[in-house]
Amino acid sequence: MGQPTPSRGLYIATFGCQMNVYDSDRMAGLLAPLGFELVDDPEHAELILINTCSVRRSAEHKVYSYLGQLKELKGRRGRLLIGLGGCLAQQEGQRLLDQVPHLDLVFGTGVIHRLPELIAEAAAGRRRALTELDGPAAAAPLPIPPRPGIKAHLTVMRGCDNFCAYCVVPHTRGREHSRPADEVAAEAAALCAAGVREITLLGQNVNSYADPGGGDFADLLARLADTPGLWRLRFVTSHPKDLSDRLVEAMASQERVMEQIHLPAQSGSDRVLKAMNRRYSRRQYLDKVSRLRRRVEGLALGGDIIVGFPGETPQDFQATMSLLETVRYDYLFSFKYSDRPFTRAAKMNGKLSEDIKARRLAELQARQREISLETHRGLVGRVLEVLVEGPAKHGQGLVAGRSRCGRMVNFTGGPDLIGRVVRVRITEGRVNSLVGRLNQEEVQRHDTNDR
Ligand code: SAH
Ligand code: SF4
Ligand code: F3S
Repeated sequence: MGQPTPSRGLYIATFGCQMNVYDSDRMAGLLAPLGFELVDDPEHAELILINTCSVRRSAEHKVYSYLGQLKELKGRRGRLLIGLGGCLAQQEGQRLLDQVPHLDLVFGTGVIHRLPELIAEAAAGRRRALTELDGPAAAAPLPIPPRPGIKAHLTVMRGCDNFCAYCVVPHTRGREHSRPADEVAAEAAALCAAGVREITLLGQNVNSYADPGGGDFADLLARLADTPGLWRLRFVTSHPKDLSDRLVEAMASQERVMEQIHLPAQSGSDRVLKAMNRRYSRRQYLDKVSRLRRRVEGLALGGDIIVGFPGETPQDFQATMSLLETVRYDYLFSFKYSDRPFTRAAKMNGKLSEDIKARRLAELQARQREISLETHRGLVGRVLEVLVEGPAKHGQGLVAGRSRCGRMVNFTGGPDLIGRVVRVRITEGRVNSLVGRLNQEEVQRHDTNDR
C-alpha cells in the first residue's frame, strides 16, 4: 500500500451565483486526489482559489477588494499560490495577471478541468492565464466533492444564448450546452449515495434544457425524481419565455419536485422588456405566473428585477411597481442597472444617474419587504415540511431548515433533528424567514414514512 498523500490546505473563496458554488465544489473534488483538503481559514492554505463574478460592477469590486486583502498574506508566505477563476477571470484573462503581481494563475470558466496542470506550472514559477471556452475536454464531468453535505447543486447546462441586453453572462460562460441526461442522472445518483438529500439543478435557463439524446427539462425532472435517496429537487433559473406547460405539470405532479420557482421578470414595462431583449411581454409573463399559481399548490414564486435600465422613465418604473402588486412575489432580488463590458445596453443612450437608480431601488425594496412580510404572516398556523439543515444563525437552542417552498424556518430543536424532514407549525412570519414550533408527534409519524 502506498503512503497516504499528505494533506495540502486548499481555501476556496466563492463569489457570485450558484453556478460558481457548483464549480467550486467540483474544484475541491478535482484537487482532492492531489492531496488538497479544504480548510476554512486562508492562513492554513497552500493554495487559495477565488471563484469570481462580474455580473455587476459591485460584484467585480468585491473581488478586487478581496484580492487586495490577500496581498499581505502572499507577502508573508512566499510559497502560497493564489489562483483566480470564474466570470471575472474569463472576462479579464491575462490583464489580471499583468495587473496583479501576487496572482499566480488565472483560469476561465471553461478550463476548470485543467487546474491540476495550471497549479503545477504556477508552483514551478510559470504564471499563466487560460481562458479558452468550449474546448472538447471542458464538457467532461468533474468529480463530486469528498463530503458533499445534505444539499448540493448540479449544473445541467452551461452557458447562455439569450443575450439579454444588460448581461455579461453569455460572454463569460459561452454558448448554451445541455449535459446528457445520463450523465446528469449518474451525478445525481453519486451525490445521493454520498448522503445528499436535496439537489438544486442549475442552468441560466433550465427551461431550454435539451438532452442531446432527446427529452426536455420536464423529462429530466421526472427521471431525476426517482434517484434513490433523493428527497427534494429544485431548479434555477427559469426564463419566462421558455417556461412550458409540461414543466408546470411536472411541478404539479412530481412529489419530489419542490413548490418553488425563480422566474425573473426584470421589468414590468413592455417597452423596457423589449429594449432588454427579454422576448416576452408583461401580459405573457403574468399569464405564466397565474398558470403556475393555479396548478402548483403552495408555490413560492421569486424573481429578479433591474431598476434604472437605460431609458427607463418614471412610467416604466411605475409599471414595475405595479407588477409587484399583481404578482406579489414571495421573494425578490433587485438590482440597480450596471454597465457591463461587451453588452448592448452599455452602449445605449438614456443612462440614469446613480441617485435616481438608488431611489427607485429603495422604493421597490421597501414595498417588497411589506409584501413578503404580509405573505409570511399569512402562513401563521400552517404546518410546513422542513428539511433541517443545522443550528439557526441566531438564537440558542434553535435549528433552521427550509420548507418545501424554500422558506427559511427557525424553531426550537436539538442537533438530533439535523438531516431530517420534520413538520413545523408556523407561529410567526418575518420579512425573510418564518418561526415555528415542532410537533413531536408529527415528527415520529413522518419518520416512519418511506423516505
Ligand atoms: N440567467 C438568469 C440570471 C443570471 S444573472 C436569468 O435569466 O434570470 C442574475 C441576475 O442579475 C439577473 O436576473 C438580473 O436581474 C441581474 N443582472 C444581470 N446583469 C445585470 C446588470 N448589468 N445590471 C444589473 N443587474 C443585472
Ligand atoms: Fe443573462 Fe439573460 Fe442569459 Fe439570464 S437569460 S444569463 S439574464 S443573458
Ligand atoms: Fe456572476 Fe458569472 Fe454567476 S457573472 S452571476 S458568477 S454566471
